[in-house]
Amino acid sequence: MFRVGAGALGAVAEELSRLAPTGVVVVADARAAELYGPPAPAPLVPIPPGEACKSVAEWSRVIDRFVALGLDRGAVVVAFGGGAALDLAGFAAATYLRGVRWIAVPTTLLAQVDAAHGGKTGIDHLEAKNLVGAFHPPEAVVADTDLLRTLPRREVRSGLAEVVKHGVIGAPELLQRVGREAPAAFVEEAARVKIAIVARDPSERGERAVLNLGHTLGHAIERASGYALAHGEAVAVGLRAACAIAERHCGFAGRAEVEAALDRCELPARVLVDRDAARAALRHDKKRAGARLRLALPVALGDVRLFDDVPEALVESELLARTGG
Ligand SMILES: NC(=O)c1ccc[n+]([C@@H]2O[C@H](COP(=O)([O-])OP(=O)(O)OC[C@H]3O[C@@H](n4cnc5c(N)ncnc54)[C@H](O)[C@@H]3O)[C@@H](O)[C@H]2O)c1
Ligand SMILES: [Zn+2]
Repeated sequence: MFRVGAGALGAVAEELSRLAPTGVVVVADARAAELYGPPAPAPLVPIPPGEACKSVAEWSRVIDRFVALGLDRGAVVVAFGGGAALDLAGFAAATYLRGVRWIAVPTTLLAQVDAAHGGKTGIDHLEAKNLVGAFHPPEAVVADTDLLRTLPRREVRSGLAEVVKHGVIGAPELLQRVGREAPAAFVEEAARVKIAIVARDPSERGERAVLNLGHTLGHAIERASGYALAHGEAVAVGLRAACAIAERHCGFAGRAEVEAALDRCELPARVLVDRDAARAALRHDKKRAGARLRLALPVALGDVRLFDDVPEALVESELLARTGG
């Protein structure tokens, strides 16, 4: 169930009464909780704002609180915050008593259009982000677009990069709307692109990989920056690179429209990160994926496909053109 719009927070109570839980706990990003209070009248477990919460130590602390509260298998976890808080709280719900139900209440643009949907939960490891996790879809996603008003500009831009990505994958008209309308106006449409894809491929056996558009190069750049870049900044560079590669590899004709949309969102075309580190990160990704680099590329706006046959030299030259010191 996806409840979205201005004032949607009220739907949390409705969803809880539908689920008839034996107990409720709110796991909330401390900053979001400070700004808005808990989204349900239940014990609150605050977690550190942002990525810092996605650790084994925080997961363990949250589970300790569930135990202390005596939550049983009929309990429901309400997760409140950005993608990081949802990933940790969802993972705690996935693992406590081998899985209890949860509701995702995303408070950032990125989480409302992307992270809250699709059931991926998890935490980070020193070796890599999201190394430990589980597929455990929430019973409901409640996205109140009023909460986006307090979001710092950089976080808004980060979310807009994912909106552009969803536009290229399945809603090209979004490319004309980003940077012109307030994000609240298109959260639902952008989210529905991902919701439709994960409904067809919940466990990422095939089609779902198109959601990696811009992320293969994006992750390499993000990692090479030592995570100094915002995720969306790295993804924007990755999206531009994917469009340029697609132009040459499969005759993609929509590159100018994508670039214009990213420009309007003040997202970068090039970043100052170490080229060798970016190359090494790309190779590392490839090793994990199994020898061949599989890239999601647009064939046309609204039609993204997976390619195993992109020449490495083409990928490397794009990476080089967009990085450097
Ligand atoms: N599970 C998935 O499918 C999936 C998909 C994409 C991203 N992710 C994960 O999401 C995370 C990134 O999420 P994010 O971009 O939402 O950032 P985030 O969760 O790190 O939050 C960013 C910052 O915004 C603050 N914040 C949250 N809501 C706010 C509000 N309404 N007003 C003001 N400040 C607010 C937070 O305290 C934090 O400091 C990453 O860990 C990434 O791995 C998961
Ligand atoms: Zn992303």
